[in-house]
Amino acid sequence: MALTQAFSYRNGQLFCEDIPLAGLADQFGTPCYVYSKNAILRNFHTFRTAFEAVDPLICYAVKANSNLSILRLLKEEGSGFDVVSAGELYRLKKIGGDPKRIVFSGVGKTVEELEMALQMSLFSLNVESLEELETLIDLAEHKDVRQDISIRLNPDVDTTTHPYVATGFRRHKFGLDVNHVEKIIGLLRQSSHLHLVGLGFHIGSQILNVQPFLDAFLKLKGLVAEFETLGFVIEHLDLGGGIGIPYQDETEPDLNRYAEFVKEHRGEYRIVLEPGRFITGNTAVLLNKILYHKVNYEKHFLIVDGAMNDLLRPSLYQAYHEVLPLEQKEGSIRADVVGPVCETGDFFAHDRLLPLLKQGDYLAIMNAGAYGFVAASNYNSRPRAAEILVDGDRPQVVRTRETFQDLIRGEQ
Ligand SMILES: Cc1ncc(COP(=O)(O)O)c(C=O)c1O
Repeated sequence: MALTQAFSYRNGQLFCEDIPLAGLADQFGTPCYVYSKNAILRNFHTFRTAFEAVDPLICYAVKANSNLSILRLLKEEGSGFDVVSAGELYRLKKIGGDPKRIVFSGVGKTVEELEMALQMSLFSLNVESLEELETLIDLAEHKDVRQDISIRLNPDVDTTTHPYVATGFRRHKFGLDVNHVEKIIGLLRQSSHLHLVGLGFHIGSQILNVQPFLDAFLKLKGLVAEFETLGFVIEHLDLGGGIGIPYQDETEPDLNRYAEFVKEHRGEYRIVLEPGRFITGNTAVLLNKILYHKVNYEKHFLIVDGAMNDLLRPSLYQAYHEVLPLEQKEGSIRADVVGPVCETGDFFAHDRLLPLLKQGDYLAIMNAGAYGFVAASNYNSRPRAAEILVDGDRPQVVRTRETFQDLIRGEQ
């Protein structure tokens, strides 16, 4: 069961912190994302405590959930940030994020994005290809600015996660081929503006077994030695993000083993970590109302008002999300939970054993806090859902539901 301290049943009603979710659904409408502020804080503290002994720079991966209120909350807790686009940098500018706690990752940064990053003088620009390095060398020289950079290497390690979110194997587009070290060094030697201070990796997402992180870390240490023999002074190692969370009944990743290993092997290097899902994944639900309970050829469908445009993970990765009623009910049915979008791939759950729910009942899609709203779209001209942040018994709208006007903004 995806119940946590933040989401629990009290007298048969599903609560977020101290508020019954059905009340929020009535008040703010559905579909609607509801976040627990204190769950976000708890996850951040759990992560920080696990790695306390290495005193890392924690750069929350903005892509997992980029709502300004959530970014502000994490900034106030002392988090840095990992961004992958100028849009994410713009969000951090809006909340007054400290550039010296921001790393910029991404396999395809545009010239405009690199210029924006250079202008902000970030903690590190994480370079992922030889051509990106060449482009950056030219830009930094042309603008006469000095910039610290890190090279994201592809450590060629396999992970047991969904193939769409594995990123550290040799056939993936991410990171630099470790056989290109000489070429990287050749380019860097030509530049007096770029300063190589870090090496890193990000091997994928939703990784529950920490062993691949340890393997990648040792490979990275080997490469650091290669760079240092050639006269470079590496200051930090960026281990990326990727720590998974249980969505069903999986065992939680052994954060302590990972942290202990890093502590033992890091030497004097500063450690940078980029967790996303771990911080926000289990902190939200997507509330839905059941529009129809349809039975076709003996198969039951609960057709809800949320859809793949609101939460794409099931359609994109066949990801499992627990589905819970906001009010506990007797009886049971086996049903598909599907949205109104005109795609058979628009579903939240297949063949799921659920309580006997009927038209008008509410249900929650659990663990929707990471890669949820950020991947929402207007497909089928559906306005994007509202987002509510709950603190104790106080709900705050942190993004209003889109209107039809929002749908056509900018169109002629
Ligand atoms: C470079 C980089 N860092 C960090 C993350 C965050 O990953 P996760 O949310 O799995 O921790 C990602 C996401 O894939 C990423 O691409």
